[in-house]
Amino acid sequence: MRESALDTRPFVHIVGARPNFMKAAPVLDALKQSGGSQRLVHTGQHYDRAMSEVFFEELGMPVPDVNLGVGSGAHGEQTGRLMIELEKEFVESRPRAVIVYGDVNSTVAAALVATKLGIPVAHVEAGLRSFDRTMPEEVNRVLTDAISNVLYVTSADAMAHLANEGVAVDRMRFVGNTMIDTLLRLQPRFDTESIRGKLMIEGSYATATLHRPANVDSEVDARRLVAGLRRVADLIPVVLPLHPRGRQRLEALGLGSIDRLRIIEPLPYLAFMSLLSGADLVLTDSGGIQEETTVLGVPCLTLRENTERPITITNGTNRLVGTDPDAVVAAAETALATPAEPMHPPLWDGAAGPRIAKDLLVAFDEEPQSNGIG
Ligand code: UD1
Repeated sequence: MRESALDTRPFVHIVGARPNFMKAAPVLDALKQSGGSQRLVHTGQHYDRAMSEVFFEELGMPVPDVNLGVGSGAHGEQTGRLMIELEKEFVESRPRAVIVYGDVNSTVAAALVATKLGIPVAHVEAGLRSFDRTMPEEVNRVLTDAISNVLYVTSADAMAHLANEGVAVDRMRFVGNTMIDTLLRLQPRFDTESIRGKLMIEGSYATATLHRPANVDSEVDARRLVAGLRRVADLIPVVLPLHPRGRQRLEALGLGSIDRLRIIEPLPYLAFMSLLSGADLVLTDSGGIQEETTVLGVPCLTLRENTERPITITNGTNRLVGTDPDAVVAAAETALATPAEPMHPPLWDGAAGPRIAKDLLVAFDEEPQSNGIG
């Protein structure tokens, strides 16, 4: 690495919400091994121990250098608070580059603040598109990609989306999937017997998760999902670790009184991945779980009308089923009758973090003359 005063400025990683942690861990680790100076900023978007701290411990991540304590709020309010606190942080720490992950509000807030301060931004998991602007994450993805200098991409379709939006090829890098790096590294510690024992699960079971605003914030949609899950539970017992978002509404609609459906608290990473690994079927509205079930070889039914991760359908175990109860039950019956195998889309090989670290050290070797966008 070139020795100069500039090289001591830190790469500043921004994490805030649960899915960021498993995406950032491999990049932090690889940069550390390459000797890059770095700083970890937790925005505090997620703050419950079960949604945050426990992941740092299990993933072996460093304790954040700072936690901005931003917390929950309406989108404008939360994003505004994120921007105010991140601006102070960047003025103070003078990052060599800011690295943002995924599509949460912390991601777009950090990209916007850094860009306006003239600090280059790298976006890990760029280019995914659901083409559904009612999803807050889609807005975050489009905006973050538009202003990031370097775009690290998990799949070929994402490269094509960026190209269609006019992104120059030299801003994009197809590097693979850092969330899958974390999965493959920790897979030897997934223990389905132990989680079965703890939860007293006997025989086959399905795992479900629900948290998307489109599913849990509206009573009509939440009611359909509860009806669908009630019928799936007649086919196979369901274990549902429930995100805090929408919990009250779902329980008020009777989710808690379904025979053979167990609601439990959100699980730490290793316990959740152990639960996924041992399941015969997964029903989810999460993005990351579509990817994880693909690599684990577990059939996944996505309870949405669209996905920004079509590679998990073409090269994986995922099926889009929406929320209509008849469609959900029919898809569950088919999936339970059809064995699935682990699938590995191109470059989902456990080495995305090192690829990114290597590239970061080259891409941000010198103080930028301009922001390089356009
Ligand atoms: C956020 C991300 C979403 C991601 C999800 C994973 C955005 C726009 N959305 O959604 O992409 O899939 O994280 O979990 O950034 N809450 C707690 N404790 C916490 C955090 C949240 O109780 O530690 C509750 C609060 O009532 C809060 C609500 O969950 O209002 C929603 O939290 P928020 O950070 O706004 O978004 P998520 O729904 O978690």
